Amino acid sequence: AAKARTAYVCSECGADHNKWQGQCGECGAWNTLSEFVVEPAAKGGGVAASRRTSWAGRADAPAVTALKDVQHAEESRVSTGIGEFDRVLGGGLVHGAVVLVGGDPGIGKSTLLLQAIVRMAQSLPGLYVTGEESLSQVAGRGARLGLPLDGVHALAETGVERILEHAARMKPALIVADSVQTLWTEELSAAPGSVSQVRESAARLVRYAKETGTSVFLVGHVTKEGGIAGPRVLEHMVDAVLYFEGESGSRFRVLRAFKNRFGAVNELGVFAMGDKGLREVPNPSAIFLSGSRSPQPGSCVMVTREGTRPLLVEVQALVDSSPLSNPRRVAVGMEGNRLAMLLAVLHRHGGVGVGDQDVFVNVVGGIRVQETAADLPVLLAVLSSLRDRPLPEQTVAFGEVGLSGEIRPVPNGEERLKEAATHGFKRAIVPQANAPKSGRVGEMTVIGVERLADALESAT
Ligand code: TYD
Ligand code: MG
Repeated sequence: AAKARTAYVCSECGADHNKWQGQCGECGAWNTLSEFVVEPAAKGGGVAASRRTSWAGRADAPAVTALKDVQHAEESRVSTGIGEFDRVLGGGLVHGAVVLVGGDPGIGKSTLLLQAIVRMAQSLPGLYVTGEESLSQVAGRGARLGLPLDGVHALAETGVERILEHAARMKPALIVADSVQTLWTEELSAAPGSVSQVRESAARLVRYAKETGTSVFLVGHVTKEGGIAGPRVLEHMVDAVLYFEGESGSRFRVLRAFKNRFGAVNELGVFAMGDKGLREVPNPSAIFLSGSRSPQPGSCVMVTREGTRPLLVEVQALVDSSPLSNPRRVAVGMEGNRLAMLLAVLHRHGGVGVGDQDVFVNVVGGIRVQETAADLPVLLAVLSSLRDRPLPEQTVAFGEVGLSGEIRPVPNGEERLKEAATHGFKRAIVPQANAPKSGRVGEMTVIGVERLADALESAT
């Protein structure tokens, strides 16, 4: 039989190398390779052998089939008992799915999963494996949260072999492994927490999940570089990757699907952390406003649509003359390159230069906006700060800004406008193609614009 082979895996791009080297040959990152044991492929030598085998005349030979005739099962789902969690999973947890929940330490991952495993105990008897806390800490937290703990089993263990032995005996339908960074396998000499240990331990749990149909939640701390034990190392082996995010100091938490084989990505679940743990915020549309009543310079409310519902989110800009020859552009909650591009469009097509100014942009509430619909509100906030004049009271905006200064429509314009009108906004500055002919939605006046220059004018 084939022997296990040692490979060296890059923590940045996940590429395999046969020998250790200082720089990854694939992505060029330095000091990112670490040892990893590759299991020999299953009996018969995997793909190579099956290619050699002739299937002719065999009863189990694969056949070309009309796709519509293929028998398939609808994936069956179980509710986590937490509506916002279900939403992000795509309508509940799929049987046998492996879900990675990532986030900064202290954000509330353990709390969320303890609440979920308890609520699922009836339908999916669970095993909570903790490598970070003692059993009494876990039980104590459960009691403090007022959770009914019957039906949930816990195990304080970090060795994957022993975890799987317990699982094989107890046969839980759900395993929470908190956290992957504490897991290790006897197969590797590398230290627990190293990329190779995390990757191999997670791989074993994934294999176990797929063989037995057990659902698994893997908890992963996000490293300083923003990845879970090195970006992309775990993301490709699980069915879904959810990130739990929030601003320090804010009690709101956002759970976001980054990858989901069984649902939409960019779906958001919103929670508030309180003394009884995480509480759902089922109507979150107004929580990302800064709460200041009178309009402030440098602030613009946008209607974004992350996932399947509209959200009112405030974007703030601070523009200030820079002492630096290379003024700063800092974006929090949006992509930095996009900000730089928008500022160039503002100069070229809006006639407003900020070349000698530092520009800071922040999306309130710790949420990250990825939609291009944020373009116009970002520029309106920048302009407002530059001129030190607030936008007209109760104004919202959305719209994509193109490189030639055109304002492009965004999906679901009508729904966004309705949401803003419902929350009492009086004026909306939106792409012409998203504006209704009547120029009104409820009590709100809708101003459709086609060019950036028009938008800037209607915002004064
Ligand atoms: P935790 O779930 O341990 O975070 P993680 O597993 O992501 O590291 O949450 C820890 C934080 O949450 C901690 O700072 C205390 C706070 N917290 C509350 O505010 N209320 C609660 O009911 C609980 C259990 C925790
Ligand atoms: Mg924890």
